[in-house]
Amino acid sequence: MTSSSPVKIAPSILSADFARLAEEVAAVEAGGADWLHVDVMDGHFVPNLTVGPPIVESLRKVTALPLDVHLMMTNPDAFIPDFAQAGADYLTVHTEACPHLHRTIHAIKEHGVKAGVTLNPSTSLNAIEEVVTDVDLVLIMSVNPGFGGQTFIPSSLDKIRRAKHLLDRTGSQAFLEVDGGVNLENAAAILHAAQDDGGAGATVLVAGSAIFARPDYAATIAAFRSIVPRASR
Ligand code: DX5
Ligand code: ZN
Repeated sequence: MTSSSPVKIAPSILSADFARLAEEVAAVEAGGADWLHVDVMDGHFVPNLTVGPPIVESLRKVTALPLDVHLMMTNPDAFIPDFAQAGADYLTVHTEACPHLHRTIHAIKEHGVKAGVTLNPSTSLNAIEEVVTDVDLVLIMSVNPGFGGQTFIPSSLDKIRRAKHLLDRTGSQAFLEVDGGVNLENAAAILHAAQDDGGAGATVLVAGSAIFARPDYAATIAAFRSIVPRASR
């Protein structure tokens, strides 16, 4: 069954031109983006280095969009105060990096920030089952994190569907977010999986290269928004 649950579009600035970051952010904001996805990589949890709290603080000054900060780092607990202070609206941590995930989630919330959890493609959904009603966001990684521009892993569709069932079964109101290789070709199938049984909660689609590699951000965001959930063929 398909439904008309709301969909949010979150451009990932990883694929933006960092030398013109404020302009790029203004362009996606004017183009209708709902959130701004900020990928934090520490060169340890993932084999790439990106940005930290100072960039989040700078972004906070130039946009009204919610800042959806994805922490791909080994020790996120140590940086929760800094990212909260910098103005993050959502802080999403990897289960693989958090031995005390419940504590980490509540530390994020105690700083007045919405808490998200995410899993690598090889990590079972079981890893979040005990905390799914504590979080504001569940992010399903559909690529191995570390780089933009990778190909969507097809088995993610089934995981997204099972994640949606988990949220519905537990009564969680968390957003279900999908990140990695999302594009205009696969978004209908992703939304179909994410909204399988209807139910509460919106879907958030993160898109980096699919938005920033095209010249007209507003047109691409509008195209994402017009997509109707459809089973993959
Ligand atoms: C991957 C990042 C993603 C990435 C998405 O490690 O978490 O947010 O920027 O980029 P695309 O949409 O190009 O796969
Ligand atoms: Zn991300």
